[in-house]
Amino acid sequence: MPFARSNGELCANAVPLTAIATAAGTPTYVYSWPDMRMRCRRLASAFRDVEHRICYAVKANSNLAVLARFAALGTGFDIVSGGELERVLLAGGDPARVVFSGVGKTTADIDFAIKCGIDCLNVESAGELDRIEARAALLSRRVRIAIRVNPNVDAGTHPHLATGLEGSKFGVPPGEARALYRRAARAEHLEIAGIGCHIGSQILDVAPYARALKRLLALVDALAEDGIALGHVNIGGGFGVAQGTQGRGLDHRGLGRLVAETLSVRPVPQPTLLLEPGRLLVANAGVLLTRVEYLKPGPSSRHAGFAVVDAGMNDLLRPALYGAKHTVRAVAPRGQRRWWHVAGPVCESADQLARTPLAIEAGSLLAVGDAGAYGFAMSSNYNGRPRAAEVLVDADRFAIVRRRETTADLWRLERTV
Ligand code: LLP
Repeated sequence: MPFARSNGELCANAVPLTAIATAAGTPTYVYSWPDMRMRCRRLASAFRDVEHRICYAVKANSNLAVLARFAALGTGFDIVSGGELERVLLAGGDPARVVFSGVGKTTADIDFAIKCGIDCLNVESAGELDRIEARAALLSRRVRIAIRVNPNVDAGTHPHLATGLEGSKFGVPPGEARALYRRAARAEHLEIAGIGCHIGSQILDVAPYARALKRLLALVDALAEDGIALGHVNIGGGFGVAQGTQGRGLDHRGLGRLVAETLSVRPVPQPTLLLEPGRLLVANAGVLLTRVEYLKPGPSSRHAGFAVVDAGMNDLLRPALYGAKHTVRAVAPRGQRRWWHVAGPVCESADQLARTPLAIEAGSLLAVGDAGAYGFAMSSNYNGRPRAAEVLVDADRFAIVRRRETTADLWRLERTV
């Protein structure tokens, strides 16, 4: 447990969260590197019977310090923009271990990725394949590609987080994928690297992965008949974590066993398995530290009051956007536990982080849990709010790895005319 109590006070590993709040102010995202590393190692161990590569999905948490630590572990990266690629390179990531997903890659993105020599572009449409081929020819390069297939599998997750169903904008249907591979096989400037899919996010059940993998492997076999061999099979990310009331994450050990069994009965050479976990590696390793500004009674004794805090939906959008449940804990509980709506300062009724019992007073510090993924990464400056600071903890030390924005940062790019 990276965030546990010591002498009644919540700590990040060996560092009291109050010390971090004193040094960095609030709201502040706090990440535990030992926890991220442990989760990465656990995932690798779950897939130890399969030759695999973990490509951390940068979008979940793209702080340079986090990326640099993953790069030093030898992790690969899954990116969705030229901007994310620049971050990975700045953090010392190896471009030869980078895969690039996304339905809307611009010409500039594609050129940059080709020039950097990334491992593979995950192609999501016929138009994109044409564009990559044309840019590769222009740059006189041979570019490695994989087709992202939409296997039409229901991942059983929140509708906003499902990406593998027919009708989704992501990937191409298996029939079309086969035709695209045949085209790619004839193209002088393209090299076929593998095949992939990503069926959604915060998936809690192994079965949808089993169905998706079966569909991908059927296509691998069909392509073998066409004389096309694939070096990797990418099952994407989406591995669900314990979050709020969802007490249990995906059984990734079970998934590892299932994949190993499925592949073991197939002809050799086996393709390398690629995994694109984002949330699994970082979500539970982070909290959003926030301070109670005011305690405001509800309209009657039957209603919980409002604990108005200094973090809002601009800092953590997930509760407002997905109805996500994040556990909120008092860093140092005081007095009686009562029910509170934990609400932010943003002028939107949806700006509520949780409804939960807490023993707090005005000025208390709260830790919003499971905030290491898609927290800071999705934050904004809405309502003229500078974005939060970020802190990385390693054992008994911590460092501010992104300073809090100032208001001057907010209008740095603007001018009056
Ligand atoms: N690979 C691809 C191609 C993806 O689109 C994604 C996430 C991942 C991997 C990583 O998925 P993960 O392992 O983190 O579930 N903002 C939402 C999540 C959006 C996920 C988008 N794609 C949230 O806060 O829940």
